[in-house]
Amino acid sequence: MRKPERIHLLNSEDKVAFVTGAYGGIGRSVVKMLLESGTKVVATGRSDFRFKDSDVLHLNLDVTKEKEVKSAIEKCISHFGRLDFLIHLAGMVGSGRLDAMSLEEWEKVVSTNLTSAFLILKHGYKKIKKPGGVVILCGSSNGYNGGSHLSGAAYASSKTALVNLVRYCAKEWAPDGIRVNIVSPGPVDTPMLDRLSKNEMDDLRSSLPLGRIASPEECAGSILFLCSNHAESMTGTNLNISSGLVLDA
Ligand SMILES: NC(=O)c1ccc[n+]([C@@H]2O[C@H](COP(=O)([O-])OP(=O)(O)OC[C@H]3O[C@@H](n4cnc5c(N)ncnc54)[C@H](OP(=O)(O)O)[C@@H]3O)[C@@H](O)[C@H]2O)c1
Repeated sequence: MRKPERIHLLNSEDKVAFVTGAYGGIGRSVVKMLLESGTKVVATGRSDFRFKDSDVLHLNLDVTKEKEVKSAIEKCISHFGRLDFLIHLAGMVGSGRLDAMSLEEWEKVVSTNLTSAFLILKHGYKKIKKPGGVVILCGSSNGYNGGSHLSGAAYASSKTALVNLVRYCAKEWAPDGIRVNIVSPGPVDTPMLDRLSKNEMDDLRSSLPLGRIASPEECAGSILFLCSNHAESMTGTNLNISSGLVLDA
């Protein structure tokens, strides 16, 4: 019997994605899945890791630097000729109680998570395909439920702000035919969790109604879904991937 062809969530052979945080845990899965779907990828970050695929353009990028963001998006256009999916995953956690947090730490976390999104959106808007472009930001369950000292106040606050930034852009850019959405994972099995002790991990897992830490592949699947035609009517959406941790989003 003839084997059925593998059906991809996203079929996008002529399309181009620009991914920040591409060498992080979720980023690597997103890039891999995009490549499997036929999408060409601009993979940006600060690591020496390289995807061995001729459909990837690697660029060093610090997402808090406006000149670097502008230049990287311009290189995407000069190299691949278009930009369809803008996927902003770069982010960092803080830690500790608010009264112990320095202004420097507050500003670093807010700049990495929130100001970077402003820069990516601002410069991405000018180049993304209209109509048809899709933007995905990355929130967190901390952005719904206040978070805790494990990630700190700046992390929780910046992730909440991203949700409203997405709503703002979803409205402003709908007439251009650009969709803007955000995924908000609970704990995901990536290097970001390496900072937690075994006890903290056990407590975290047992706080999840489904009792499971999500995989980076699941998050990547949700992101590809939001990029795909299956989500053509979805904009301004906050996709909750929290294993039941948050139920009143
Ligand atoms: N893992 C979780 O439990 C979890 C839960 C909810 C939401 N998230 C969100 O998911 C996204 C991806 O995180 P992850 O889980 O994949 O963690 P990760 O493996 O730590 O990836 C985060 C990536 O962001 C990059 N990054 C940080 N600051 C940057 C900057 N200024 N410029 C460029 N890149 C920068 C990091 O690069 P460097 O290695 O160079 O610092 C790293 O590659 C983040 O937005 C995170 O907040 C994660």
